[in-house]
Amino acid sequence: MLELKDIRFAIQKGNDEVALLDQIDLRVPTGHFMAIVGPSGCGKSTLLKLIAGINQETDGSIFWNGRNLSEEDDLEASEIGYVPQFSIAYEALTVEENIESAVRLRASTGSRQAFHDLVDQVLASTGLAALRDRPVKVLSGGQRRRLSLALELVTDPVLLLCDEVTSGLDPKSEHEIVELMHQLSRNEHRLVVNVTHSLANLDLYDSVLVLDAGRIVYHGPPRALEHYFSVDKAEDIYQRIAKRKTGEWAESWAKHREAYYATMPQKAVSAPETSVSAATPGAITQFFALFFRRWKIFFRDKGQLYLQLAILVIFPMLVVIFELEGVEQVQRLSEARPDSLEAYNAEREVLTFNLNLGGIVSGLVMFQVILLTLMGSNNSAREIAGERFIFEKEKLGGVRPGVYVASKVAFLSVLVLMQSAWMTIFVQSISEIPSQTMLPHFLLLLLVNGGMTAICLGISSLAKTADQASLLSIYLVGFQLPLSGAVLALPEWAGWLTRPFISAYWSWAGIMDGMERDYYRYIKEVTDTWLGPMWLCFAVLGLHVAIGLFIAYVGVKRPKWEN
Ligand SMILES: Nc1ncnc2c1ncn2[C@@H]1O[C@H](COP(=O)(O)OP(=O)(O)OP(=O)(O)O)[C@@H](O)[C@H]1O
Ligand SMILES: [Mg+2]
Repeated sequence: MLELKDIRFAIQKGNDEVALLDQIDLRVPTGHFMAIVGPSGCGKSTLLKLIAGINQETDGSIFWNGRNLSEEDDLEASEIGYVPQFSIAYEALTVEENIESAVRLRASTGSRQAFHDLVDQVLASTGLAALRDRPVKVLSGGQRRRLSLALELVTDPVLLLCDEVTSGLDPKSEHEIVELMHQLSRNEHRLVVNVTHSLANLDLYDSVLVLDAGRIVYHGPPRALEHYFSVDKAEDIYQRIAKRKTGEWAESWAKHREAYYATMPQKAVSAPETSVSAATPGAITQFFALFFRRWKIFFRDKGQLYLQLAILVIFPMLVVIFELEGVEQVQRLSEARPDSLEAYNAEREVLTFNLNLGGIVSGLVMFQVILLTLMGSNNSAREIAGERFIFEKEKLGGVRPGVYVASKVAFLSVLVLMQSAWMTIFVQSISEIPSQTMLPHFLLLLLVNGGMTAICLGISSLAKTADQASLLSIYLVGFQLPLSGAVLALPEWAGWLTRPFISAYWSWAGIMDGMERDYYRYIKEVTDTWLGPMWLCFAVLGLHVAIGLFIAYVGVKRPKWEN
């Protein structure tokens, strides 16, 4: 039995408190199918989120089989299934792969056999068995709703909460989905609640809750609806409700309420035997499920795959192409070095030549660094924002935010490692940058790519949409070059103000510090910017990585349901 006692949910608007839901009192038994209907904006979704535990009530209490959910005794993630208004599956994966992934993340099945049995059973109970190999992107609206329901059934939830799962469907598909939800509610331990605009198929529900302006105006059997509101057909009730002042219908319902609840079956249903799937899987299982799923999606999304490959190959080539002339000079100079030139004029020529060379080496490295920051932003800007609602659902279903971020770090580390390694090897094999040793050089490139990837992952976790995250990340890359001080010198004070935030600067400065000393002298001559010591560069870049990941974790932990 689900019981809501005098629930109020209010939000702060400026200085005023606005109640989105008020005086919500209701009781619903298990083995029951309830509709929540009402005009748009009346608070249906808000009420559903409150029951799901996504919204926290301002006043009042919620009980489930006598457990007070408003206090500490929350329902387990595996006990609730919440099907939100938006689509929540990976388009590139098939129906079966999506269900398998939900099982891995949310249900502990024990054996391989039990795992496959559960997947088959969920497919069968939602009528998706024939579509198991179909990618989600080709599914029809009705099939998608079935999948959304299927994903919630992997834990055999006692409370199945559905928001507008029939909206936008043709009447036949709508009937089929309502019928499916009705079937799912024929289980003495389960309560199915469906929020809907539609007043069709009402006879399939056990009860209908009508909301208006955040208050209950009716809750009872669908067949009594017309009589209660004195209308000929259910479709007319909204007009009828609108005819009386807000609150009047709610007052009348308050008078009838107890009479209705007195007729309702009161039998308490004991909690179900713990099913195989009751416990949420451990962190390691979830980590590998997320990690391998990410790679599967990566290889299936051909656009992303080719873009990554193109960037990996072309960016290092760009560095050497643009510097080709300079590269020849680097080599020519190093050959012409023996001091066979003694005349004064020739000495001056060498000086000019070497200063020019310092500029080329510095520019070459800065170009490498900037391209790696661009790769970093491309790696991660959309990573979380692009699947935010799916993750939000999975988090509600028991996926740990820390594990989710860790799976992203593992996936992105592979990209970062490949990009930085290839950038270092390719450019070095052609232009022979005169670093004292290559290891610090490589590590500084790795860190600038990793730092930018981590920071853009942080941005991605905070952004409202993937497009917003991309745009912000690109701006961040765009500012790297001008604010690094490597190309144009900033006023001293401005340099100190911006430098701490510019990853490109620290990578470049660290690499400069590691140049062969002859070269370093000339680089210093042509650079107006302060060059930090290498250890500091490592420290700052390490800090950038850590801060980026910390922001990502905080951003992911924060609930984000609305746009
Ligand atoms: N977090 C929030 N902050 C401010 N206003 C909110 C918030 N959540 C909901 N609202 C407002 O509360 C009202 C009820 O919203 P809700 O989404 O519950 O409506 P609904 O009945 O589900 O409508 P629809 O049928 O259009 O989906 C709306 O006016 C909405 O704008
Ligand atoms: Mg809604």
